[in-house]
Amino acid sequence: MQTFTLYNPTKLTVGRGVNSKIGTEIARRGFGKVLLIAGGGSIKKNGVYDTVISSLTEAGVSAVEKWGVRPNPVLSLVRDAITLARDENVDAILAVGGGSVVDTAKAVAAGLHSTDIWASFESYKLITKALPLFVVLTLSATGSEMNGHSVVTNEHEKKKWSISGPALYPVVSLIDPSVQIGLPWRQTVNGVIDAMSHVMEFYFMGSNEEPSLALDEMLLTTLIATGDHLMATPDDYDARSHLAYCATLALNGISGVALSGGDWASHGLEHGISALYPEVAHAEGLAVTFPAWIDYHRKNGTKPELLARFARKVWGKETIEEAIDAMRAKYTSWGAPTRLSDLGVSEADIPKLSDNVAMMGTIGQLKKLDRTAIEVVYRLAL
Ligand code: NZQ
Ligand code: ZN
Repeated sequence: MQTFTLYNPTKLTVGRGVNSKIGTEIARRGFGKVLLIAGGGSIKKNGVYDTVISSLTEAGVSAVEKWGVRPNPVLSLVRDAITLARDENVDAILAVGGGSVVDTAKAVAAGLHSTDIWASFESYKLITKALPLFVVLTLSATGSEMNGHSVVTNEHEKKKWSISGPALYPVVSLIDPSVQIGLPWRQTVNGVIDAMSHVMEFYFMGSNEEPSLALDEMLLTTLIATGDHLMATPDDYDARSHLAYCATLALNGISGVALSGGDWASHGLEHGISALYPEVAHAEGLAVTFPAWIDYHRKNGTKPELLARFARKVWGKETIEEAIDAMRAKYTSWGAPTRLSDLGVSEADIPKLSDNVAMMGTIGQLKKLDRTAIEVVYRLAL
């Protein structure tokens, strides 16, 4: 195995009723005033907001609120929230919602220590200073609750880009899987597919890292089984917990141990889609780009042994062709898209999409994909 460092400072608590601990978790660390960041209102419908506010009040923590984060979160709201946090002199940030809310909160936390937060997205510089961040997660998908990444769209420049760094890890994240029981199926399955995609981004970098490869195969098969189970039984608390834990493990460092940081081309291809078509959810884009990216490597003869192992261990198939078909069939059975046309994207849109992604330079590590290769992969997704 290669030399590796595993770093994760986030305290994670998962269980029924844990959201009522948020006030004491913040107060015991000496913080008295937070900027609470939230999305479009789901937390008011499912009771999470009331639980959080009672917990903060009991612990003597005051809160200023910033609502309106939307899926595929945007830079303008990040900037507004930074101004509000400065004016109100808060000493910590509290995200209550899904990955978009958490990512917005991270960019705000970092933005309070920078003169122009977008410059950090453009420069790829590691974020080493940010206000402390606390998270109450209501949708398990991105792993943002226990990692140091944030993805935000600059809506004027149509760039969906990211920042990373040690200062972006939440101090504490709480997940009560029972609040995810009321999620629409579309959001649940998006969580399963996003988590699977994170595992696969690492897996395909493998060669002889047996513990990581075996762990990743376990995560993938558990996620597939849990997706099937939740489609039939959405109110099963244990299955919700399994999905929550697997989604966190998929992108908190553990699934990527000694796997060169992952490939991330499929994510780059997806971010191009949701930058130009913000109504497409992140995981819906991945359900289209990932099978196409695997197919690209199959055609190019990349790592045939690893592709065959993936086919066998994850999908119970003899060949990678059959595994790609099985993957698309599984996603379709879950109601997810698998082709660009399912997203309303046509062949004529491919050059524009490819130009957008190529603004990042090349993408991917297993093979660096330039503008021409990016277009080839999109065409495999038609
Ligand atoms: O806005 P509200 O009203 O809260 O509704 C949300 C939103 O409409 C709803 N929702 C959340 N919790 C709910 C709920 N509805 C009912 N009950 C609940 N308990 O779900 C909708 C989607 O939420 P969103 O936060 O957008 O979803 P997700 O968690 O999938 O986040 C996706 C974003 O994260 C980025 C994606 O690109 C995308 O922008 N990613 C972040 C990563 C990271 N930071 O590490 C890595 C990922 O690869 C990804 O790129
Ligand atoms: Zn993702």
